[in-house]
Amino acid sequence: MPAPIPAPGSAAPASAQGPGALRDRHGRVATDLRVSLTDRCNLRCAYCMPEAGLPWLPKPTLLTDDEVSRLVRIAVRDLGVREVRFTGGEPLLRPGLAGIVTEAAALDPRPEISLTTNAIGLDKLAPTLVAAGLDRVNVSLDTLDRDTFKALAKRDRLDATLAGIAGAAAAGLAPVKINTVLMRGVNDTEAPALLRFALEHGYELRFIEQMPLDAAGVWRRDEMVTAAEILDALRAEFDLVPDPAHRGSAPAETWLVDGGPAKVGVIGSVTRPFCGDCDRTRLTADGQVRNCLFAQGETDLRGLLREGASDAEVAGRWREAMWGKLPGHGIDDPSFLQPSRPMSAIGG
Ligand code: 5AD
Ligand code: SF4
Repeated sequence: MPAPIPAPGSAAPASAQGPGALRDRHGRVATDLRVSLTDRCNLRCAYCMPEAGLPWLPKPTLLTDDEVSRLVRIAVRDLGVREVRFTGGEPLLRPGLAGIVTEAAALDPRPEISLTTNAIGLDKLAPTLVAAGLDRVNVSLDTLDRDTFKALAKRDRLDATLAGIAGAAAAGLAPVKINTVLMRGVNDTEAPALLRFALEHGYELRFIEQMPLDAAGVWRRDEMVTAAEILDALRAEFDLVPDPAHRGSAPAETWLVDGGPAKVGVIGSVTRPFCGDCDRTRLTADGQVRNCLFAQGETDLRGLLREGASDAEVAGRWREAMWGKLPGHGIDDPSFLQPSRPMSAIGG
């Protein structure tokens, strides 16, 4: 295990600076855990999954609910993790989700618990999840047009998505954050309409630059809709002023809309990378630690759990996995290699 070193300038809270924290050799400390609960999804967003789906992970390789809860406990209790986000694939498809949230909410210190979801079914599930301890949701919504939704996600589910978003807000998961990925020639003219929709309902909208994470590997740098283009499109209809609040390790740069207090965010993952402030650690649905979305390697914790390893051994392996985190994703570098797994299998 690496010797603990001070993390100069790190934004991590003091409680995460202890000897057990998830440090890397570049001085970053990971306090934000993303856990993928399934690689499956009921949509097929073009930037994520092929229409025919993917070869799903075999059931025995998936972490059980108890294994997920144990790893979350180790992360929070022993490794300084303060925020736990459940993702997928589509995490609402995981039957044990509410129980997993309940277990996470019982931890001391109590982590902040959130969900990244497409919101299908959330109108029915939100009250149960709130009762279990869910604090926040991020919903993916790329269009308000039914035909565009069908073209983009290959399923006619816009109404179900909108009902889920409204249900989340009604259940008290406010403010609902909305993530939008714009694709040229598909939904790139919709930025102002999506912002108007978010302002009307009190949702916090963030645009995310498309990253090379699609299963088909068709991403092209010169076709990507950039943060600069998104801001230009919004400025045609709205007055945007940089948000004076500090960005910290949050990937979204935010702007006050028409004088505030409403805001809009732009996550320039490709053109304005924030790797230097990254505080993430990721766990795949089959129990592999990835120290970055774009990591070429993974560290197996599932095998360790099933061999009967102690919590201390699991924590030690996790620390080693994070120590080797690379300084940046290098998407703009000619030698960049797309990760061997798509976003749905890694966990957003
Ligand atoms: N590029 C950018 N964002 C993506 N997402 C999924 N795939 C990509 C991609 N290739 C988004 C989804 C979801 C969040 C987890 O990541 O829209 O909101
Ligand atoms: Fe499903 Fe999310 Fe991928 Fe869309 S981006 S296919 S909603 S996992």
